[in-house]
Amino acid sequence: PQVVFSGIQPTGTPHLGNYLGLFLPFLKLQRSLPPGIPLYLSVVGLHAITLPQDPKTLAEDRMNMMASLMACGVDPQRTCLFFQEEVPEHAELAWILNTLTSVGKLQRMTTWKSKIATKINASEDNVTQSDLRLGLLAYPVLQAADVLLYKATQVPVGEDQTQHLELTKGIAETFNRKYGPTFPIPKTMIVPSKRILNLRDPSQKMSKSSPNPLSRITILDPPQTILSNLKAAVTDSLPGVTYDPISRPGVSNLLTIWSALDPSNRTPEQLVEECGEWGLGKLKEHVGEVIVESLKGIKEEYERIRSADGFLRSVAKDGREWAGEVAKVTMKEVKQKVGLGPLD
Ligand code: TYM
Repeated sequence: PQVVFSGIQPTGTPHLGNYLGLFLPFLKLQRSLPPGIPLYLSVVGLHAITLPQDPKTLAEDRMNMMASLMACGVDPQRTCLFFQEEVPEHAELAWILNTLTSVGKLQRMTTWKSKIATKINASEDNVTQSDLRLGLLAYPVLQAADVLLYKATQVPVGEDQTQHLELTKGIAETFNRKYGPTFPIPKTMIVPSKRILNLRDPSQKMSKSSPNPLSRITILDPPQTILSNLKAAVTDSLPGVTYDPISRPGVSNLLTIWSALDPSNRTPEQLVEECGEWGLGKLKEHVGEVIVESLKGIKEEYERIRSADGFLRSVAKDGREWAGEVAKVTMKEVKQKVGLGPLD
């Protein structure tokens, strides 16, 4: 049986990378899969605290993320939308999976390595690798627990999550080998747009954590901001428009965004047939308009949902109960298999 699972961290307003890498593909699954196939979407607070967070801001951001997802079209009647931290089995399964995961594998994760490189977790000066937090190293194991708790078969994500999901597969295989067949091996689903780049530095991905807010477009940005931000996007000085992600990453990123939002689903290569002769100014302006058009109405819907606190809380409660039921069944099976089941 098919089961879809994905997650997002409640750290700031979702940006175009999240929107194209996760929201749109998830919404497509929500529309097209028969009602018998369960969909789970989790706002993962336990992942967020692997980096320092201000408690007040985090509490706000959790509600904001729930509202953003619904404003974009996640339907809590169809999708089990819930807060990870409200289902304690995530942490419980993660602990058991920690006992099956080698430290060496975790140290090879590029996300971990990049965090060492930028020393982003530094709370003091002169931080060294051994000052980095255990939770940050174990982050991908918690992600594996998220996916496996629901016995997910498909996980829609952006390309940056591929390595984490490879680890998830490995952990599932290890568990199955050691304790008998339990978890399906989940498939990673990646959209053709893969990875949306930072508008000011196309050697980086677009991310919530980049200090420069002009490097991204959020789903709540007003049209003027989107257009001016696009206008200032870093490209190059070659003539005309071509799609060449290696030598023209900035221009290709704009084509990727346009293609992902194109109502007639044209590939970047097909779009070049239309815009190959354009100047880059015209391309930026046009892609800006395409984005504005696609995000139209989301902010209004967000404000409406966000101001209905009681509604958000009731969605969270329904999600927690729905997810909790499934999580309990898996945990019971897992504990039994590991030898931690109820004593008789
Ligand atoms: P997070 O919160 O960083 O991002 C949420 C989703 O957005 C995708 N994404 C992008 N896609 C394309 N281009 C970009 N520039 C870009 N930036 C972000 C991410 O790939 C992701 O799909 N570890 C996960 C959250 C998580 C999870 C899970 C995901 C926790 N448990 C279980 C799947 C299954 C993360 O930090 O996503």
